[in-house]
Amino acid sequence: MGRIGILKTPHGNVKTPALMPVIHPGKQTIDVKKYGADIVITNSYIIYKNEELKKKALEEGIHSLINFEGPIVTDSGSFQLSVYGDIDVTNKEIIEFQENIGTDIGTSLDIPTPPYVKRERAEKELEITLERAKEALDARKNLMLNSVVQGSTFPDLRAKCAEAIGQMDFEVYPIGAVVPLLENYKYKDVVDIVMASVANLPPSRPRHLMGAGHPMVFALAVAMGCDLFDSAAYILYAQDDRLMMPNGTYKLQDLLEMPCSCEVCTKYTPNDLRSMKKEQRMKLIAQHNLHVSFAEIRKIRQAIVDGNLLELVEQRCRAHPYLLDALRNLKNYTELMEEYDPEYKNSAFFYTGPESLNRPEIFRYLSRISRIPQKNRVLLLPSFKKPYSKNIQNILTNFGRDKPDLEKLGNFYRIKGLKSENSSHIDEQLQVVVVDVPFGVIPLEIDEIYPLAQNESPSLLDGDSKIFVKNIINEYINNFNEVIISESLIKKFDLDFELENFNINELRLQFDDKEKIKYIADYQFGTGAGKALFGTNVDIVKSRKTGKIRHVYDGEDLIATLRASDGIFVLSMLGAERLHEFLEYPKSRVVVNSDAEPFAREGKSIFAKFVIDIDINIRANEEVLIVNENDDLLAFGKSILNAHEIKDLKTGQAVKTRKGGK
Ligand code: GUN
Repeated sequence: MGRIGILKTPHGNVKTPALMPVIHPGKQTIDVKKYGADIVITNSYIIYKNEELKKKALEEGIHSLINFEGPIVTDSGSFQLSVYGDIDVTNKEIIEFQENIGTDIGTSLDIPTPPYVKRERAEKELEITLERAKEALDARKNLMLNSVVQGSTFPDLRAKCAEAIGQMDFEVYPIGAVVPLLENYKYKDVVDIVMASVANLPPSRPRHLMGAGHPMVFALAVAMGCDLFDSAAYILYAQDDRLMMPNGTYKLQDLLEMPCSCEVCTKYTPNDLRSMKKEQRMKLIAQHNLHVSFAEIRKIRQAIVDGNLLELVEQRCRAHPYLLDALRNLKNYTELMEEYDPEYKNSAFFYTGPESLNRPEIFRYLSRISRIPQKNRVLLLPSFKKPYSKNIQNILTNFGRDKPDLEKLGNFYRIKGLKSENSSHIDEQLQVVVVDVPFGVIPLEIDEIYPLAQNESPSLLDGDSKIFVKNIINEYINNFNEVIISESLIKKFDLDFELENFNINELRLQFDDKEKIKYIADYQFGTGAGKALFGTNVDIVKSRKTGKIRHVYDGEDLIATLRASDGIFVLSMLGAERLHEFLEYPKSRVVVNSDAEPFAREGKSIFAKFVIDIDINIRANEEVLIVNENDDLLAFGKSILNAHEIKDLKTGQAVKTRKGGK
């Protein structure tokens, strides 16, 4: 759910995810811009309460007051309310004040209800927060506004709040009152709060996880859909002689070596710092803290582009047992995360431990494979070097011939006691499947589809994967009348079946490219798509170099190209027409309005604001059909975002058109 974005403000654009250092008005001595800050946050209530600061802010503006020319966010005093129980300003007054001092993004006076309070209190305070949100909208003129999600530790109240304010016209949606949870390492509960909130916020608006300033949690928060962070921690930790790192915190008193390669860490030794005056030392440690915090944000942005953010999250969450709890809790949200996970990515799937089993790619694969109608018989093979089909084919094509090279595959058994084994299916079609961690069962026809070929896992099995794959096998074989299984799988996954000997030479195996392309299309576009696309006369062209399928023609006419990098079909216009005829509306459709129709026909890319309807199951990086209101096919292309995002965004591209139909 992590995303790269651009937040536009009157004082410039900001790339997100972004970290906003907290600036103390009047006290700030560190130039945060120098360390990478493009946007900062400060507190309007502190300014409002100090006559001198207030006068200067009203006369010269807040940018001059804190000496920062970029975008400035201001908080409202809600945090002071949560700490001192009372403050001296009304919601309306503080909104108007923020507007008058020239803030870019202001905040209404929400009530930060602490965690674990009684439900009654959380509900009551939430009502006030919602009233104040509405009042803020009425009071603002041009000020961009935050509206904070509250609701304590009740996920349903967080969801309700997010939904209510999400429908109003706010520019940014912070998630509030998590500081006490972060301070107490209750990361698991933060996951429930953030997911309940984000699931109900509009995808087109940035979300700010308020008070999250430790680089240790950034990757996790971004993976849950947070875009903005604020950090007072860089200075608070420095005051306390503590150095932040993405995998934890070091106390200066314990350091023999400096922990990183920033300017401060390379110039000074721990002893140098310890012998300095407090003020100088604090400034240097704050610089280090900013440096590592911004470095972590950059790393996260790169991971989003590379498609391996969850692998970074898995690394980060191993730094502390309670972060590991948070990572494990993400398992409860895999279904939601899958909706936002791009279909195909630039990077391979790396299994980094049992928590990787909860990743959206695996959930998606297993739900999709379970929908494909099965043949009657299955042969379960142990895993080989990838790509499986290529490496196995040489061995298996010898099956039933003079001298099959079966030693390499070991012994085989037939599983006894299956539901419908009494009917004989010896002559019926055989499904050949490879069993591997972490995707479980992989039909050979689709072994080159992302990420089935583009993944790596350790060769030594862990207990969780063993049980995970065992359960997949048990479920998968239920669909078959006859199951033949390799002895090595029985041992490796502790399978307990009643078995009988099986003579592998009885099997006749065929590798039929025509069946293969249909199976791939069924997997990619839905059952039946293979027949619709490739049901007639097909000519398969293979790469001379690799021997892999490249193009599928009907006579002279190209239907589709099998992309080598991820093993999926990219359509031609003919392919798109066939698919369009086969798939019922709205399946795989992006519907554009009449303004966009001529552009689509010319093959121009589709902007989100022209999309009037969409198949809600479309994910990012998927092949889609572009149609008009009458479902006439205009063009086809690749979705850049998922359906929820395309529906909600008013700017930017939604679909990269491959070809228009003129
Ligand atoms: N800073 C940290 N938490 C909060 C919160 O819940 N609301 C506001 N307005 N500011 C915060």
